[in-house]
Amino acid sequence: MLLSPESVLDALRQIEEPSSGHDVVRLGLVKGLAVDDAARSVALTAVVPREGTPFARDVADAVQRVVHETFGSDVTVNVLVDSAPIDLGLDVLNAPQKNAPKIPTGVRHFVAVASGKGGVGKSTVSANLAVALAQLGYRVGLLDADIYGPSVPTMFGVRGQRPRVDEARKIVPLEAHGVKLLSMGMLVDDKQAMIWRGPMVTSALRQFLGDADWGELDILLLDLPPGTGDIHLTLVQTVPITGAVVVSTPQEVALADARKGVTMFENVHVPVLGIVENMAYFSPPDLPDRKYYLFGRGGAARLAETLGVPLLAEIPIEQDVREAGDDGVPVVVAEPLSASAAAFRDLAFDTIRAVELRVAEAPPTQKIDILYR
Ligand SMILES: Nc1ncnc2c1ncn2[C@@H]1O[C@H](COP(=O)(O)OP(=O)(O)OP(=O)(O)O)[C@@H](O)[C@H]1O
Ligand SMILES: [Mg+2]
Repeated sequence: MLLSPESVLDALRQIEEPSSGHDVVRLGLVKGLAVDDAARSVALTAVVPREGTPFARDVADAVQRVVHETFGSDVTVNVLVDSAPIDLGLDVLNAPQKNAPKIPTGVRHFVAVASGKGGVGKSTVSANLAVALAQLGYRVGLLDADIYGPSVPTMFGVRGQRPRVDEARKIVPLEAHGVKLLSMGMLVDDKQAMIWRGPMVTSALRQFLGDADWGELDILLLDLPPGTGDIHLTLVQTVPITGAVVVSTPQEVALADARKGVTMFENVHVPVLGIVENMAYFSPPDLPDRKYYLFGRGGAARLAETLGVPLLAEIPIEQDVREAGDDGVPVVVAEPLSASAAAFRDLAFDTIRAVELRVAEAPPTQKIDILYR
């Protein structure tokens, strides 16, 4: 049988990670897959959530057995086992935060997705990160806080749908691709949005946070508008944000604005979980091993290093990403084997890890009170 990345991944789905009950491909535990049909060889890294478990001990054998059973015993299989502190059991995420201020929701962690500059792909990153986390089994919500340019309804294919209000007068989020959704775009149409002023936006956002029935969530992602304004302040005043993910493209102008975004969060004592470089490079579909760094190379990595925060992911620029966004099916669902989908799954893992580190290292973020004159 022909060895290809797709066929090998398909075969590896037989291997289950016992603590979560999900297969290793779905969990993103298979990394760095290299397949050569001519040489009849397969190499990969298996990520194990914890060292010393039976799964960590047996996974290499399981991979070899499955590959031999499916493709023949002539195939050379190289498996590197890498342990990463990933808690698939959600214990850390589910642990109540000490001294956490009371907020009227069952949300464990609020994670803001922000950028300084507009159009760098915040909403695309938020949508795909949300779906990738849901695919991993986390309970995820996404709040599109951008009233002047809401894109979540389009990206999730729920344009025109309005959330209903239940008997308890709570707003019930919509649900698509396993993610609970509310968007400022569900409240008002585009023309109306233009005349909304700051205080109205602020009160709508507070309603979406306080008066919506999000249920129990591990993570509520907040897709912020570009820049630093009323909405950002409202958020930090309303909920304790566990951390922020800052999205940038490789251009200097975008990086300079990303740095401003980071400073804003630092000023309000919200830790930055890391930086995502979007549109980091382009690989032609017929030459998938080539990488062209259209907008410059390594800028986000340098920025992350200067700021002392992790570079969480480098997402390639791909036609599929844009098309998927326009079609209402995020690329991690529409094209799960694409390079961008793999990068978004890595981002999901790294975000969880950053949240866990944050919970382990620092006291929880307090919502801050800002007094207006
Ligand atoms: N990695 C990518 N590859 C290809 N297209 C992309 C990628 N990331 C984003 N895009 C496209 O770029 C456009 C802008 O992306 P998006 O709306 O996510 O940016 P944004 O930062 O949320 O913008 P805004 O500041 O207006 O909220 C969209 O058409 C989206 O499909
Ligand atoms: Mg956006």
